[in-house]
Amino acid sequence: MTTRITIRKPDDWHLHVRDGEMLKAVLPYTAKHFGRAILMPNLIPPVRTAADCRAYRERVMAALPAGSKFKPLMTCYLTDDTDPDDVERGFRDGVFAGVKLYPANATTNSAAGVTDYKKVMRVLERMEKIDMPFLMHGEETDPEVDIFDREKAFIDRHLSKWVKQFPGLRFILEHLSSKEGAEYVKSAAPQVGGTITPYHMVLTRNDWFGHGLKPYMYVMPVIKTARDRAALRKAATSGEACYFLGTDSAPHPYSRKVSTNGVPGMFNAPVAIETYAKVFEEEGALDKLEAFAALNGPKHYRMAPNADTITLEKTPWTAPEEVKVAGPDERAIVYRGGETIEWKVVA
Ligand code: NCD
Ligand code: ZN
Repeated sequence: MTTRITIRKPDDWHLHVRDGEMLKAVLPYTAKHFGRAILMPNLIPPVRTAADCRAYRERVMAALPAGSKFKPLMTCYLTDDTDPDDVERGFRDGVFAGVKLYPANATTNSAAGVTDYKKVMRVLERMEKIDMPFLMHGEETDPEVDIFDREKAFIDRHLSKWVKQFPGLRFILEHLSSKEGAEYVKSAAPQVGGTITPYHMVLTRNDWFGHGLKPYMYVMPVIKTARDRAALRKAATSGEACYFLGTDSAPHPYSRKVSTNGVPGMFNAPVAIETYAKVFEEEGALDKLEAFAALNGPKHYRMAPNADTITLEKTPWTAPEEVKVAGPDERAIVYRGGETIEWKVVA
């Protein structure tokens, strides 16, 4: 039985670190074990322009623990009015690593997202021309579509067409949550890649509301069935280059999660790489963890893998239940908080 594993330092290809006091409280958890992370732009107000992005990157750098070598990779929040010239300049200047689509009102802080896809076709054309990655929250927002079918509907109605319309554009379908989503990505690889969270590979909707309601498990895309979970586990542990690590760690103040109108998002950075290791071990695929966590993502984004390594060991420890946040935010609930975590990063 393997009890110790050394892999290249992982990257997180989908992460929310927020801003202000929350940023300071949560960023160190990712910076500790990950080389780089794609930072989501869904702040209020969103990170819409290269100028917004430069300013946000400075705030992120200022929040990093002293001596940290962590590198934030920034994204542009696509709106109906995004200027292709600003996107291109931002990409060429190394400010933007990609553009992120939030369909309007699909998830947390997406009100300023795209309301009409016709309005952003010029931006996609430009991205194709300059070979800039397109990151998507891939869910259909038509209120007639059931919440459990939103990912599949987005693929059927939009993504499958865009992939043909823009054959040179590289897509990332983020936080894959369904069997159909995982299968679609493989069928459209290498043009399309997909990230997978730790919690979509561990939980089902029975865990979420089958034995009491767990508000902290409310996320977008919603956690689905055992059939979907099995497909995601198989995909991630397959070693296929189209699947890579994206935690979607998304902290919220406690009062906004535990509320009569709670917000979606789960803070998992404190247990992320450890939980992936547990899943890969359970699937008998620890030998594929490095590809998923540290090689496939950089390949899709056309970057070199990290040179450093991390070592995980089977040494139980207890995850913190919450992380304190200075000021009125107070605290953020941690996924698997209070549980015994099997794997530990030891070097
Ligand atoms: C994310 C957030 O809180 O910003 N929430 C979530 O449920 N995953 C946004 C997102 O990635 O959908
Ligand atoms: Zn997210």
